[in-house]
Amino acid sequence: MYSDADAAALYDVLNSWGPSDDFYLALVLAADSALDVGCGTGTLLHRARTSGHTGRLVGLDPDEASLDRARSRSDIDWVSGTAAAASWNEEFALAVMASHAFQFLVSDTELRTSLAAIRRALGAGGRFAFETRNPLLKAWEDWNPSNPTDVVDPAGRPIRVVYHVESVVDDVITVTETTADPTGQPLRVDRASMRFLAPAALDEFLAEAGFAVEARYGDWDRAPFTDASAEIITIARRI
Ligand SMILES: C[S@@+](CC[C@H](N)C(=O)[O-])C[C@H]1O[C@@H](n2cnc3c(N)ncnc32)[C@H](O)[C@@H]1O
Repeated sequence: MYSDADAAALYDVLNSWGPSDDFYLALVLAADSALDVGCGTGTLLHRARTSGHTGRLVGLDPDEASLDRARSRSDIDWVSGTAAAASWNEEFALAVMASHAFQFLVSDTELRTSLAAIRRALGAGGRFAFETRNPLLKAWEDWNPSNPTDVVDPAGRPIRVVYHVESVVDDVITVTETTADPTGQPLRVDRASMRFLAPAALDEFLAEAGFAVEARYGDWDRAPFTDASAEIITIARRI
């Protein structure tokens, strides 16, 4: 079988550093203090420290196995919990949700309570940066067994990862991730639901929570968002 710790280690192999990480790293380095919501294994904040950030850095995530990996650095605060349960009060210049963590906020209630908690955590003029996939491009249609990913995990095991969409209900996609051996024999199956909010609906949630959209990009090079963009990248300012 494949443990939670194995899965967290595999996550880092499957998600190597890329342009989106450079985008968020630049924002973190420019901020005196930063909260990484859904920080996962902590790669972004680790890199911020090694790149010279000396201010307060806090990572928040409900997944203990990911946090265990993040805790390899003790000069960053790692907090277990969901966005909705965040209880900071006007303490950060920046909050981020990187690598589509925002899409794991699925119900209207969870979105509202999470955005309210993130806004509360920001000081005056604080910014919240995150991305969500453009629903018009239907990225989930590529998440099927004909697109497996073959990798070698940190323990040296060859691993095949396969996605399978279980359901598409309105803008919520439920998908399984099967971690298998190279013959396809499953070692573990994880299930997650993700919301694919359209820009108009997204902006309604942001406005209701007390955020103004300061910038919207469609790519990590800061190209403007269009209907053809893969990502809806938003920098929102606390009002
Ligand atoms: C795709 S991973 C992204 C991890 C990390 N931000 C990165 O850039 O690699 C999504 C993360 O969101 C976390 N997550 C799921 N639901 C959450 C919630 N309600 N609040 C905060 N984080 C959540 C998961 O545990 C997971 O670590």
